[in-house]
Amino acid sequence: MLDQTTNDLLTHVGPNTPCGNLLRRYWHPVGYSSELTGLGRTKRVRILGEDLVLARIGSGALLLVQERCPHRGASLLYGFVEGTNIRCAYHGWLYNQAGECIERPFESEKANRICKKMIESYPTHECGGLIFAYLGPAVDQPAFPNWDILIRQDGVRHFEVQDDLACNWLQMQENAVDVTHTYYLHSKYFEQLGLNDGSGFGKPFKRFGFQRFDWGIVKSWEYEEMGRGWGNLMVFPNMLRIMTEMHWRVPIDDTTTRIVWVSFTPSTDGKPMLANEEPKIVQQPKRKDETDRYLMDTFMSQDAMAVETQGLILDRSKENLGVSDRGVVMLRQMLLEQIKVVQAGGRPIANVYGAEPEMTDLRQWMGGYLPMSCQPDPTFHQTREFKDIFDDTHKEYEIPASSSVMR
Ligand code: FES
Ligand SMILES: [Fe+2]
Repeated sequence: MLDQTTNDLLTHVGPNTPCGNLLRRYWHPVGYSSELTGLGRTKRVRILGEDLVLARIGSGALLLVQERCPHRGASLLYGFVEGTNIRCAYHGWLYNQAGECIERPFESEKANRICKKMIESYPTHECGGLIFAYLGPAVDQPAFPNWDILIRQDGVRHFEVQDDLACNWLQMQENAVDVTHTYYLHSKYFEQLGLNDGSGFGKPFKRFGFQRFDWGIVKSWEYEEMGRGWGNLMVFPNMLRIMTEMHWRVPIDDTTTRIVWVSFTPSTDGKPMLANEEPKIVQQPKRKDETDRYLMDTFMSQDAMAVETQGLILDRSKENLGVSDRGVVMLRQMLLEQIKVVQAGGRPIANVYGAEPEMTDLRQWMGGYLPMSCQPDPTFHQTREFKDIFDDTHKEYEIPASSSVMR
């Protein structure tokens, strides 16, 4: 349970909010490369409560600036790209990548000589078919982590697209540290609908645990007869990593969350194969029927039911948490702690500062028995054992046999 002030602190993401400032210290996906193939193409971006325009400019680079022209407020979505600049379509004011106004037609020569930073502009990074943006202070810009799933060449990537969730980002991210929800929400629902559940989530559950690691929280579990497993990582602050998928829960604003979902299919014959240059965008089945009732027939529909019905922003002053919510509590503590780090002028965890790493391979944090909601990765062989991952900070809970059987 949280008081209202703390709940607001963790859920409000706009400019100059404490959590918004923390989230601005990370790279977030804002589009697909395939949406901006030709020079001059523009796309509207809403993220962290800010309205922006992304444009493909000269030499294949990207420009990301605030949507509204500061002259009289027209949208730069309709602007003309000229070289590496964008010109407002209303009266022709011209802005560069740094957000300076470098030309004002019909104005005095004096006005035209002054280049002033007039609009917000942000750096971008393109990787594996995704476009990322960094909205934080320039001096604290982290290196792009080069997630393995985005840069590996021995397979094929695709993006699974679904409608935005009508709820706050933290509801979906708390789901990433909720190891017991898979029992009823996924397995039981698949069973009830007579659908095949290949996930393995419905087996009797013996124990589960949580431990912090460099990138967030690593989870552990033990299912009867299947032995121990660990992984399905909560990557701080807003990602989930499973063996061949990575999901970003992008805060569009306080009450809208976009799932950016990358799936990677490794080559099966062990031979390297060139990842497709233009990953496919695959539209996912709808989550609700025509009466606005969730279909509950896919992981996405089931999770969306859970997090959207909690409300636009879950009122955490009315919860009753139990032992199985320890992961949720750990995530909230991590957020509060990292908000304080940023407020004190420091740099938050789960970032790389300085030289860009060649690859950040999170598979090394996964092992043992992995219940699978994604494809396995036959190219990966875990060499680290349970004892190499977990130490005495591992918070583990034994489930009484009487309460681990699905009813
Ligand atoms: S509103 Fe953009 S130039 Fe006038
Ligand atoms: Fe789920």
